[in-house]
Amino acid sequence: MSYINSLTMFLLPIFVFCFPSLVFSEIFRTIQLPPAATGPESMAFELATGRFYVGVADGRVLQYNGLTGFVEYGFTGGNRSKALCDGITNPDLGRVCGRPFGLGLHYATNQLYVCDAYLGLMVLGSGGRLANPVSAGVEGVPYRFCNGLDVHQLSGNVFFSDSTTAYDLRDASKGSASNDSTGRLLMYNPTTRRVTVLLKDLPGPAGVAVSQDGSYVLVSNYNANNTIKFWLMGPRADTYDIVNIQARPNNIQRTMLGDYWQAAAMVKQATQTLVPIGQRINSSGRVIQTANFERWYGNNLISEVQEFRGSLYIASPSVDFIGIYTI
Ligand SMILES: *[C@@H]1O[C@H](CO)[C@@H](O)[C@H](O)[C@H]1NC(C)=O
Ligand SMILES: *[C@@H]1O[C@H](CO)[C@@H](O)[C@H](O)[C@H]1NC(C)=O
Ligand SMILES: *[C@@H]1O[C@H](CO)[C@@H](O)[C@H](O)[C@H]1NC(C)=O
Ligand SMILES: *[C@@H]1O[C@H](CO)[C@@H](O)[C@H](O)[C@H]1NC(C)=O
Repeated sequence: MSYINSLTMFLLPIFVFCFPSLVFSEIFRTIQLPPAATGPESMAFELATGRFYVGVADGRVLQYNGLTGFVEYGFTGGNRSKALCDGITNPDLGRVCGRPFGLGLHYATNQLYVCDAYLGLMVLGSGGRLANPVSAGVEGVPYRFCNGLDVHQLSGNVFFSDSTTAYDLRDASKGSASNDSTGRLLMYNPTTRRVTVLLKDLPGPAGVAVSQDGSYVLVSNYNANNTIKFWLMGPRADTYDIVNIQARPNNIQRTMLGDYWQAAAMVKQATQTLVPIGQRINSSGRVIQTANFERWYGNNLISEVQEFRGSLYIASPSVDFIGIYTI
């Protein structure tokens, strides 16, 4: 063995240990929101064009198309005015200005469903502009905090969560501190135009993801720190199991391979504080991969991680950008 080779063999592990990010080329970049916009909570991608939609704190739904950046696409508040709402973060205006949370495209009909935290389930047609209300409550109980949403592409059914019947977004942290469990998992059928309650008394259901074949739904219970798998079909239909117990689980997004990325948090041992992570879980809830985003987000928790064209796109209501992480 030559001198150079043995030197390399000696130095390489030291180099990898000292500069792991150079060796594994972990790349993070951001797409800045327009000046007055902040708080992206969820994203929906158009598979063919690569354009995506994002909902921000002042009630707008923005469309990102690589060339011209972000453009205004739509909004949910029927009484919303740009003068009153653009750029605001005042939650007391939420019912007027709107606050889009979960977003989901139904590709066949080009409808963009929106779970507005204050206004309930709504839908934007292909031209955008003002969203049409779809449902503001069911079984006589209004939605108080519409949160996560996913569309089953084949049937067009929309699965969504109402995090609680007891408080709204303004008191979300009180709700999680008190372990509120009055949330519901719901399904909207666009053919019958009816909403069905699939589960009630859930502890802060946040993220919702339906499997490709429509046989089950994953739901993350933010207040209880667990993720459940609820069967829609088969011998176990209408029952569920707890499949994951990561802290503060939020939105869940299916990948092309049928796994899921879930936004969550973990306790940093040194400080006992929460830092944001993304975890890739399979259909059994088993963790396949974990990505730690503390380096770029600090203690700001994230709400969504979505894989698109080989990168992870990250949304967080606490920042004014979309993060893009590539390993
Ligand atoms: C708009 O405001 C008016 C007057 O306050 C109210 O009656 C109406 O319900 C509101 N409409 C919507 C869509 O919020
Ligand atoms: C909520 O649950 C946590 C963990 O079990 C517990 O420490 C806390 O005291 C509970 N909060 C209330 C208000 O019951
Ligand atoms: C959920 O996790 C958070 C963060 O670790 C913790 O503060 C809280 O007590 C947990 N809640 C329950 C019900 O276990
Ligand atoms: C999920 O991952 C675990 C651990 O790798 C594996 O045992 C299990 O079979 C996987 N489940 C599915 C449905 O692929």
